[in-house]
Amino acid sequence: MRQHRRTTRLLGSLLLVTAAGVSAVGAAPTGQTPTPLGRVIPAPESVKPGGAPYRITNSTRIHVDDSREARRIGTYLAEVLRPSTGYRIPVTDRQGPGIRLKLGSKDASLGDEGYRLDSGRNGVTITARRPAGLFHGVQTLRQLLPAAVEKDSAQPGPWLVAGGTIKDTPRYGWRGAMLDVSRHFFTVDQVKRYIDQLALYKVNKLHLHLSDDQGWRIAIDSWPRLATYGGSTQVGGGPGGFYTKADYKEIVRYASSRYLEVVPEIDMPGHTNAALASYADLNCDGVAPPLYTGTEVGFSSLCVDKDVTYDFVDDVIRELAALTPGRYLHIGGDEAHSTSHDDYVKFMDRVQPVVAKYGKTVIGWHQLTGATPAKGALAQYWGLDSTSAAEKEQVAAAARNGTGLILSPADRIYLDMKYTKDTPLGLDWAGLVEVKRSYDWDPGNYLPGAPSSAVKGVEAPLWTETIATPANIDYMAFPRLPGAAELGWSPAATHDWDTYKVRLAAQAPRWDALGIGYYRSPQVDWPTG
Ligand code: ACM
Repeated sequence: MRQHRRTTRLLGSLLLVTAAGVSAVGAAPTGQTPTPLGRVIPAPESVKPGGAPYRITNSTRIHVDDSREARRIGTYLAEVLRPSTGYRIPVTDRQGPGIRLKLGSKDASLGDEGYRLDSGRNGVTITARRPAGLFHGVQTLRQLLPAAVEKDSAQPGPWLVAGGTIKDTPRYGWRGAMLDVSRHFFTVDQVKRYIDQLALYKVNKLHLHLSDDQGWRIAIDSWPRLATYGGSTQVGGGPGGFYTKADYKEIVRYASSRYLEVVPEIDMPGHTNAALASYADLNCDGVAPPLYTGTEVGFSSLCVDKDVTYDFVDDVIRELAALTPGRYLHIGGDEAHSTSHDDYVKFMDRVQPVVAKYGKTVIGWHQLTGATPAKGALAQYWGLDSTSAAEKEQVAAAARNGTGLILSPADRIYLDMKYTKDTPLGLDWAGLVEVKRSYDWDPGNYLPGAPSSAVKGVEAPLWTETIATPANIDYMAFPRLPGAAELGWSPAATHDWDTYKVRLAAQAPRWDALGIGYYRSPQVDWPTG
């Protein structure tokens, strides 16, 4: 229903915008005053400030464990610090004062992604059980340093890290962002840029929407025209594009170096015009439709009764699974308005076992709960406050029955929704979504009737009907993306708009330093100058 404006939602959101209030001053610390330990996004689980700050100087070294992963993370940190500080910042496995990155913590409560950061006069020590935790701790350290640390030329400093201890673990294992590379194609480098932005906020899943009516974006050797023809255009008629397998592996490798898992999506049985246009055989009437460059939804369907459909699905899933080190494969399943209910159920009953056959776990948009979700499947909920009680209950019932939920409510964290009626990009069918609205909800207590244990996490999708460039991505993702990341990471007890918006404002100089052009929401007191 992406094209259908909901006027009630629209009205509610307009009122919200009008009511945007004045907030506490969130002046970013500069130079001599270190950033307070708690002023990071996502909010850490526990913060104990105290003691003298650590100062990075020309003699600072990064001391790493004698492990490949710790050394790689140390080198990553050094590459953030060197250009802006102008210091050498050697990475060494000898012990000493400075920045220490230690794996193998015995503290089981840190889990696979948690870390502990201790800062004092003699140095900063980050400890974790697993590399992902160490990497997340490094992101916290980045945010504790002045924003100028992000610049790529030498800056004056001083480079102070406040004294004290942070202990931090995520609330949810699934903290995702989806990028639609079908409606507009984004190059490998453009995707890497987004990955770096996601990593800064401890996002750990990158869901790539690889196929839709307007473009097929991944090379499939057994069906080559999917990419070469089906990938040859995009919304508005531009040239589109696709990832070769080498391109895709490079995205997966880069994401994994930032501790993000890539979750590929092939949307089926609807949203398939690019495939249907590429192979006439896939159509019930044997006639290939033209390529499509508009923005309607719900008009295409794979032919559920033809055997060739399942040959196609098997080949695509086999080749995609082979490119996917992660556990999950997303099969879409949304807005299949041109597939009858019986056909939809039949299709999902045949396709889900294919995903399992190739060793992957199914994810579908929440319409999958209208069929029979496979054991262990996850449903990605993208409804609105105004979604019918019956539809919500269908998803909640599946959750009570063991289907895990990823929460992506469209009127909260669809990053392609306009902020206000004047936002030059984006859509408004789910209403206007200002920054406060996107942050101010609780994933643990969101879908009535769904057990909170079914909630695996939060994901912020960015559909790209109107989004064509990295600058467009920046403007829609910032400042809402960090809020989605915080909803996925931070304990519910830290949730508070009034303190969040101060931390959010403090991020702006960092975005400036990174060249991220963000929306200056009037709901936040951004620093001036
Ligand atoms: C969706 O927005 N159709 C998942």
